[in-house]
Formats: sequence, C-alpha cells, structure tokens
Amino acid sequence: MCGIIGLTGHNPSQNILLDGLARLEYRGYDSAGIAFFRDNSGHISVRKTAGKVSDLRAICDDDNTSTCGIGHSRWATHGGVTNANAHPHKVGNVTLVHNGIIENYHDLIKEFNLQDKLVSETDTEVAAATFDANYDGDPIECIKKTVSKIHGTFAFCIMFKNRPGEIYCTRRVSPLVAAFTEKDGSFVASDLTAFIEYSKQFFIVPEDTIMIMKADSMTVQDMDGKEVTPEYMTVDWDVTAAQKDGYPHYMIKEIHEQPAAIKRTIMTRIKDDLPDFTEDNIPDSLFEGVTDMTIIACGTAMYAGNMGASLIQNKFGIPVNVCIASEFRYERPVLSENSLVIVVSQSGETIDTLEALRLAKTKTQRTLSLVNVKGSSIARESNYVLYTHAGPEIAVASTKAYTVQVVAMYLIAAKLGLTSGEFTEAECKKFIQTMQTVPEAMQKMLDNEQDIENLTRRMTNAEHTFYIGRGQDYRLAMEGALKLKEISYIHAEAYAAGELKHGTIALISEGIPVIALATQQSVYSKVISNIREVKARGAYVILISMDDEITDPSICDVHLNIPKIDDDFAVFEAVVLCQMIAYYASIGKGCNPDQPRNLAKSVTVE
Ligand code: G6P
Repeated sequence: MCGIIGLTGHNPSQNILLDGLARLEYRGYDSAGIAFFRDNSGHISVRKTAGKVSDLRAICDDDNTSTCGIGHSRWATHGGVTNANAHPHKVGNVTLVHNGIIENYHDLIKEFNLQDKLVSETDTEVAAATFDANYDGDPIECIKKTVSKIHGTFAFCIMFKNRPGEIYCTRRVSPLVAAFTEKDGSFVASDLTAFIEYSKQFFIVPEDTIMIMKADSMTVQDMDGKEVTPEYMTVDWDVTAAQKDGYPHYMIKEIHEQPAAIKRTIMTRIKDDLPDFTEDNIPDSLFEGVTDMTIIACGTAMYAGNMGASLIQNKFGIPVNVCIASEFRYERPVLSENSLVIVVSQSGETIDTLEALRLAKTKTQRTLSLVNVKGSSIARESNYVLYTHAGPEIAVASTKAYTVQVVAMYLIAAKLGLTSGEFTEAECKKFIQTMQTVPEAMQKMLDNEQDIENLTRRMTNAEHTFYIGRGQDYRLAMEGALKLKEISYIHAEAYAAGELKHGTIALISEGIPVIALATQQSVYSKVISNIREVKARGAYVILISMDDEITDPSICDVHLNIPKIDDDFAVFEAVVLCQMIAYYASIGKGCNPDQPRNLAKSVTVE
C-alpha cells in the first residue's frame, strides 16, 4: 500500500508529481505529500497534509519551479491519519518517502539513539533518521549501511540535502518501476500509471540495488557497486486507459470495459476453438498428470479462483482447494510435484499471495500465476504466467480484473479438461465457442444500466443484506456481497442457499433485501424453494434468473432477467448486475465508490 513517486528532469516537477500521485491514490488516500529542492538549491521544502491529493494540491505554491521532487500517498499503518504522520519525512540531511513496513523500528531507535529526532509515530521517520545517522556525505555508503540494518519491506525514494537534482532509490519486496527519457528525465513510482504519459517503456527496479536518478541519467548498481543493466518492458496501453474518459467514476468505467477486456484476455489464447497458450510459453505438459490443484489468492481474486475451482472439480473430477493466501502461508502446504498451484492476483504485488507462492514453490514447480500487472513480483516469481489483459484497474473495488480472472480460469479449465481426457475435443470446442459469446452477452447487460440504477434506491436504506445461490451462483454471491460491503458499507453476507436454514435464516426479518441468484438450471428448483423460505419470512427478494417470466411472481419483489446462456457462463451476465447494484447503492448513499474508506487496492502489508 502507499503510492510513491519521484522525478528529476528539465521541467517544473510539482504538477507532474501531483498528477502522478492522484493516479496512485488507489494505493492509499489517508494523506499526501511532496518534497522538492526549492529553486533547485540544496534547500528541501516539504508540503504535506492529512487528506487526499486534492487537499495537497490546494496547499502547494503555484510558482514552484523545482525540477526535482518526490511524493507520497499514504495508507496508514504505523500511526494515525495526521499531518505529522504524512510523508515525506525529513530528518537532518535526509528527506524520503517510503512504501512498506520497517519491522525493527524500535530497535533502530535504540541502536541509533533517535528518540529526540522523531516528531511522528511512523516507522518511516525512524528509517529517515537512521539514514541521516549513517550519512557522512556519501549517499551510496549511507544507503548500503542503512538497508543492511533494516528488517521488513521497503521502497524508498530519498533526497539528500547536499545533492540537489538527485534522487536515490532502493527497495526490498515493495514495488518500484522506473523510466528514463532524454526529453523529460528520470521517473520512478510504485506503479507505471503514475508516469505513463511520459513513457510506455519502463523497468522494474531490481531488489537490493541502488538507483541514482539525475535529470540526464539514470543508473542502477548492486550493493557491491557493480552496474546493473535494467530490463526494459513496454506496455500497450496509454494514459487514456488510466483516465475516467467521461464517466463519473473509474468503477463504472471499468464495469463498462469488461466486454473489451474479456476479448483481449481470450483472443490470443484460442486457436481453432481450442485453448492455446503457446504465445504465453506455457507448455501443455504443465497440465498433464495433474493430481490436484490449489488456488491461492486474496479478496476478489480469490472469489475468481473459487469460480474456476468449482468448474474444474465438478466438470473434470480434479480435486481443487481454494486457499486464502494469508492462511496458506502459515499452514503446512499439502502439495506434491504433480500438484498444480494457481496464484491469482490483479496487482501481482499482494504480499500474502506472493509469500504463499514462494512457499508453494518449495513443494512444486507447477506454479502458474494469473496476473494483470506486467512484470509484477508474482508474475516474475511464478514458474509460468498468464497475463489477464484488463488494462489498468484504478477503482479500489475490482470489477473488470475479476471477470478476466474468471475467464482465464475457464481457459485453464478447458485445457485441463482436454489434457486429462475428461473433455472431448468436440466438448471443448463447444465450451470455447460459448466463451466467445460472453463479451456480447455482457454488453447486453450493460445496456440496461438504467433499470439497475432505479432498483437500487431501495438498497440504500438497508443495513443488512444477503446474497444467496447454489453452485456457481453461490461463488458469485460471495463476490457480490463483498462488492456491496466494500463500497456502500452496507452489511452483506453470502450464503449457500441451502445452508441458510441452519442458523442464518434467523436474521431474515421484514424488508431485509435478499439478492437471490438462480441462474443455474441444474439446481434451479432447489434454489427457488430456498427463496420461498426467505420470502415467507418477509425478505425483500431481488431475483436474478434467466426466466423470461416468473411463473409465480409472489416469490420475489423485483426480477432481473439475464439472457439465456449455458450455466457455466451465467456468471458473466449476473456479475454485471451485482457490480451495478453495489455501485448504485454506493452512489445512492453519497459514498465515493472509487475510494472506499479504510481500503487500498494493492495490499503490500500482511
Ligand atoms: C485488495 C483489493 C481487492 C483485491 C485484493 C487482492 O483487498 O481491494 O480488490 O481483490 O486486494 O488483490 P490482488 O492485486 O492480489 O488481486
């Protein structure tokens, strides 16, 4: 969490830093700050405030001509949301921004006798004071000495008082990407979206190196002083992909981008209506002889994994375990070399997922990650990677990243079915052909946005809601409930429809909204019986099904129809309704769906 940025170039940097920070706000928006060499002299000025980048912008001078500065957008870990705890932190000769957690900051305070130098409650200020204590005019020696003392994770951008125009960076685990252009100078940030308008080429700053940024050069060296040549990568999207493009929020824009995103994710992976991962360099042998599977992820990515797991286990009889990454990493992994481990992550940086992957790799080399962000840690560390091509997802609540993860899981399922012999070629082709109709089916759902907007007025007054369903609908219910909770703060619980009567039905009372998913024809009559059970207890039922007309209209208060499609693919239609319900409930309550309280998109602390 936290977004950091640095720039040293030929033009005034302040607005570039502020614009970049605004695009990094998805990583945290508790406070924001920048520091710069005033008039490009050895004097470093800091502007920072609790609040958002817009609040920071309001306190920045218009006449700031500095061409070198660093910036930070915070998700609070150590210390509350206050001006003093906002970054950058300045101690003596050192001013820095930090993303990560310094675990041994108490020990550092004692060892370097820092107590009197600290004015905030943050671990970061302790790091700044430690750098300062180790600084005798040589930034490189100072960084080497200091990072060797630090336990934890970090990405630092550091300015030293007697080095105007220069920024020094180093990282362990926490992400940092960088780019240099002759025209605009040296850029660094937690994520490429921060400076995409200046360069589509970038590199991941290698861990345990020191990067020296100047206006006309950028060099990287290892801790022994040996130059490191970074590997440049290119992205195929531009700044417009990271802007709202006329939509009021990123979230609704991203909901609308789903058909195109799904097309991008499946397009190059289908040959003759069969799954083909040749362009991803994933050999078919990865899927041969798989005895069992484990899917590891957090949040929405885990719910996407759930959807794939249920499909694979039910269709092909391969046992699949879905694990929450933060649990998996502290448990005994029951894996063999024939176990296939799939790690799902939009950002590719979620620390628990990354550590779980590392643990899984001690048991099997069959690890495959589904990742959206190119070159991210999880993508680099897994044995194979299948990139989902959602494009940049800025809204904290995941929408398009989820649907492309599900469709990627379905491609993998098809490949597994084929290699295990459980799917005939004809069955597989039929499955893939239906998959190719998904973008159009989703588009139809998106075209009915107005109906959903009207419906959700009722939801805004609710304190509690339930999402129920069976099979794939139950898996989707979990994602639907999470979406509503995270952006509207309405309590939502997902329940397997048949399980409700074993306790939770006690919570159903007059008027409680229940979103009932009944898209699965194989269990349709069963779920309808469960809906009757809640209706009989006064629930306000919003039914999502493929019925053109409901034979007994008394079972629901509102019916949302989705076009007929094979059971396995109904999720792609129904999820649009779940996302819109959450979005309009959030708007109706006056919340900001893009920046829900307490959350951050990229969770790089455990
Ligand atoms: C956070 C985000 C979620 C996301 C989860 C996993 O909680 O708010 O939207 O699903 O992290 O993130 P990842 O980047 O690993 O998919």
